[in-house]
Amino acid sequence: MRFDILTLFPEMFQGPLSTGLFQRAVSHGLVTVNLHNIRDYTHDRHRTVDDYPYGGGAGMVLKPEPIFEAVESLRVEMSPEKAAALPVILLTPQGRLFSQEVAAELSQHNDLALICGRYEGVDERVREHLATDEISIGDYVLGGGELAAMVIIDAIIRLLPGVLGSDESALDESHTAGLLEYPQYTRPPVYRDWPVPEVLLSGNHAQIEAWRREQAIIRTLQRRPEMLERAQLNRKEEHIIERLKQPH
Ligand code: ADE
Repeated sequence: MRFDILTLFPEMFQGPLSTGLFQRAVSHGLVTVNLHNIRDYTHDRHRTVDDYPYGGGAGMVLKPEPIFEAVESLRVEMSPEKAAALPVILLTPQGRLFSQEVAAELSQHNDLALICGRYEGVDERVREHLATDEISIGDYVLGGGELAAMVIIDAIIRLLPGVLGSDESALDESHTAGLLEYPQYTRPPVYRDWPVPEVLLSGNHAQIEAWRREQAIIRTLQRRPEMLERAQLNRKEEHIIERLKQPH
């Protein structure tokens, strides 16, 4: 999968790209990340990327021309079909909320272009005539879209075939099944006074599976009850929830 990132701060990506999962995915050729400095698409002596907002007000607004030209330079290198289908995602707190589902949806594409906004905003014509999607990673305002782009790419690449090792799985974890993940333990079996739940040492896989499922439900009910409305539960599990909801 190929990511094209349009940013004023390409250097912000160096740390994540050279570490851990990113680095592995890139070095195995499963992921290509191309960084494009928006400033390289300006034509004036000062390489101006922003300007005062029409109508007045605080802060600066990113100009449309360099952003359009940067995306168009990507499209020129692609086949006409690919260029026309290229998703162009603007990172903005006004976008649709990112989630595991959105990560799964985006992981189906071969190419994604991500525009990292900065300053007080981006000229509205970028939203209207260039971006095909707008995504927010949460209800807070970051200094720019760079960290949001990294979050999104991180969540997507771990879903790509071959990125996680065979002993790591993206199938069994928090959010994938609409539930939070069950508690995990490793050695030692007793740390200080705290033993690992006995069932996990029993070797009985059916019991372990049932225990984990119940723990995932309990945890989700306690921490994120709204997630349960969308989780796929069987009758027995619905009963467990009813029972847990009863006041003791
Ligand atoms: N840019 C600034 N804040 C953001 C957010 N919450 N999500 C995505 N992009 C942003």
